[in-house]
Amino acid sequence: MASPLTAHPARALKGDCTVPGDKSISHRALIFGGLAEGQTRVEGLLEADDVLRTAAAVRALGAAVEKDGGTWVIEGASWQSPDHTLYCGNAGTGSRLLMGAVAGQGVKATFDGDRSLRSRPMGRILDPLETMGVVSDSDAGKLPVTVKAGRPEAIRFALPKPSAQIKSAVLLAALGAEGTTIIEEPVLCRDHTERMLPAFGVPVTFKDTNACREIHVTGPARLKGTALRVPADPSSAAFPVAAGLLVPGSRVAVRGVLANPTRTGLYDVLKEMGADLQFEHLGEEGGEPVVDLVAAHGAMNGITVTADRVPSMIDEYPILAVIAAAAKGTTRMEGLGELRVKESDRLSATAALLRANGVTCREGEDWLEVDGGPIPGGGTVETHDDHRIAMSGLILGLAADNPVTIDDAEMIGTSFTGFTELMEGLGATLSVGTP
Ligand code: S3P
Repeated sequence: MASPLTAHPARALKGDCTVPGDKSISHRALIFGGLAEGQTRVEGLLEADDVLRTAAAVRALGAAVEKDGGTWVIEGASWQSPDHTLYCGNAGTGSRLLMGAVAGQGVKATFDGDRSLRSRPMGRILDPLETMGVVSDSDAGKLPVTVKAGRPEAIRFALPKPSAQIKSAVLLAALGAEGTTIIEEPVLCRDHTERMLPAFGVPVTFKDTNACREIHVTGPARLKGTALRVPADPSSAAFPVAAGLLVPGSRVAVRGVLANPTRTGLYDVLKEMGADLQFEHLGEEGGEPVVDLVAAHGAMNGITVTADRVPSMIDEYPILAVIAAAAKGTTRMEGLGELRVKESDRLSATAALLRANGVTCREGEDWLEVDGGPIPGGGTVETHDDHRIAMSGLILGLAADNPVTIDDAEMIGTSFTGFTELMEGLGATLSVGTP
């Protein structure tokens, strides 16, 4: 049953908040902990549906995964073929990284997911695994997928697109391969796997050539349990930050946000648009840079966001489009082809979100143009099982002249636990159902 939620035009939003832990790092912490010898302790893990599915999968593969107070404690184990299908829900990252890890451990597992995940391409993972000699079974590269037991071989692999999921799946498979696997990465994308493996005692080396960065990992590698803290998710922080920028009179601070440069593209773009956005108290947590973000309302200008930005802000285009709807002039976003195979066809879903609320935009095969101005609102957003479309629609409603309803708030729980309460804490009004 769908749960519609309505955001009402807001008065000044004020306050300090912390958003939940980073989703990418949380998936990796569970998988690496499950592979490691001994105990791994994780603070700040994101306890959202996507990540809890990965916790359950790691458990089904043989590791012990428990919560002790605020700490997740993982006792790694030698992985076994699970006796049931690993159901990954809505989680592209969970399913794809687990496929690589399962391949590396020489076990057999079948993966499945919800209707959104079943529609997403898995061949991009299965193809390099096949090059490594790992056999899999699927219907046209879609879930359900079975990765068959067998030992992978080390390969040299040129990343066909800047996808951290592909890169990480190959690195995880490489942990079980004899010899050095080399990944050629022409365009850098999020590097949490490369940062986290050394924390688990596995050396990762890099070689920069003219054409690319090479990542070298040698197997078979044994991970050793460790302790880590997950910083706050910059992709989640984008929503309260956007609300602070859009609603007149607002000032919103989000504390301890991951500031890894492979993830902060949105914040760089917002500065270029003239946003009143401050970066305070830069520090470090678990080998990753962190920062406090302070966003205040003010005028912004439309700009062209070129394709080279995409890897560092791949998940942030729906919320950037919402911000662009209030900026002066037109914002053009280029190189968005990958958005068509996210949790939804995010490019079309974003354009439809805007149009349903009176915002003028134009959509091409891999680009979007948004004309800024007053936002009429008053529409209903079709979320298509996509958490980021759902949250973007609600933020639009806070800045619009009339309430905005999303058709289903359920999927917000896949990445951002406590979203509604956090926004209400800043002064937003969100009501269950239609206005
Ligand atoms: C992720 C990589 C990105 C991103 C996703 C998380 C990761 O996907 O969109 O939300 O944790 O590796 P792609 O690798 O497909 O770009």
